[in-house]
Amino acid sequence: MKFFVDTAEIDAIRELAATGLLDGVTTNPSLIAKSGRDFMEVTAEICKLVDGPVSAEVVALDHETMMKEAEVLRKIADNVCIKVPLTVDGLKTCKALASDGTMVNVTLCFSANQALLAAKAGASFISPFVGRHDDNGFDGMELIEDIRLIYDNYDFATEILVASVRHTTHVLQAAKIGADVMTAPPAVIHALFKHVLTDKGIEGFMADWAKTGQSIL
Ligand code: G3P
Repeated sequence: MKFFVDTAEIDAIRELAATGLLDGVTTNPSLIAKSGRDFMEVTAEICKLVDGPVSAEVVALDHETMMKEAEVLRKIADNVCIKVPLTVDGLKTCKALASDGTMVNVTLCFSANQALLAAKAGASFISPFVGRHDDNGFDGMELIEDIRLIYDNYDFATEILVASVRHTTHVLQAAKIGADVMTAPPAVIHALFKHVLTDKGIEGFMADWAKTGQSIL
């Protein structure tokens, strides 16, 4: 499963990129606002930090203006992936960009039928929001299972990008279902490293090593 980080915070991206575990980055208008940075400028910086896809979202609601915005965004770098909402205009834009060989991430997906539409429109990625699905009394992971089944039934190449990931259990469940990608905030990715027994084990080894009075260097 590929790991994307869901943030526009440069320092957090740089730190995770250094682990070699980062396959891409996702942003959205809320994350850009949170960063307080200029959209074009911060997106260009992010694109230099990772080789994989960096999702940059259009903000227009009509197809024509979305295409104009996409034209500007895709000039930022070769690894920009244009993010469009799951609407009629968004999928028209997806179809047009995909036919042109541009990577497209279709976002704000909350049903398996919506995911089917995005795949038919040639999306590179579909972003089902599991956390927000859970928040509203649905089962986010059941949605991922349904999309996996449908995409496998028809051999769609669209990658399932599990988004709105809130905790490490979401990551585990996504991997068990066979999602292609997950995008999570930096804190959730850092939490994946943690285990109380790992910390305890290090503590024990360090204490015993100190008793030997030796050093490696
Ligand atoms: O990737 C989508 C994400 O940014 C939304 O997350 O936690 O606001 O639902 P959240």
